[in-house]
Amino acid sequence: LRLAVLASGRGSNLRAILEAIARGELDAHVAGVFSDRAKATALEHARATCVPATAISAKDYPTREAFDEAMFSLVDAVHPDLIVCAGYMRLMSADAVTPRAGRIINIHPSLLPAFKGLHTHQQALDAGVAEHGASVHFVTAELDGGPVIAQARVPVVPGDDAERLAARVLEREHPLLLATLRELAAGRIGLGPDGVQHDGAIL
Ligand code: GRF
Repeated sequence: LRLAVLASGRGSNLRAILEAIARGELDAHVAGVFSDRAKATALEHARATCVPATAISAKDYPTREAFDEAMFSLVDAVHPDLIVCAGYMRLMSADAVTPRAGRIINIHPSLLPAFKGLHTHQQALDAGVAEHGASVHFVTAELDGGPVIAQARVPVVPGDDAERLAARVLEREHPLLLATLRELAAGRIGLGPDGVQHDGAIL
């Protein structure tokens, strides 16, 4: 499975992918890493493993659509089978997402459909839920709204603050993302007309 990874920051999910590939635990190849932030640590993780890494800035484009067009022409140039948003913090335009339906996934730190958007750990604490977690979903034009592929759950425990809860979730994000990528690589999951299909051999 040829991957393009989009990341805006720390890049721990990207690193988990790169390490799993290096250990022979994920049959995939990261063909390129792309960011909207030149300072993203994710770019360093990519370059450290000789994966081409590129950043462009939204400031240089007049509209979201123009930025996305530039970003996705870079992405398309590495011919990915799958585009993985791993901490990519920019909202993507429908024009960019719709033609790529079923070929873009995102990892989001909540049990979707709960707590879309930002500050999900604080949202979970404020709501007083007993369980929180992470979701991998197909990306659609609706922010954090596409069909959920897989989730990992963690308990919320007394004394949690957003940071402690985020760390507990992140620990589960990496294996969740890798497990999902393995299923996608094996062609066992795809996006069908009625949502996520298993054993569909769609990819
Ligand atoms: C993760 O919590 C991910 O779910 C969210 O942003 C964070 C990215 O972390 N979308 P990292 O950059 O992969 O370390």
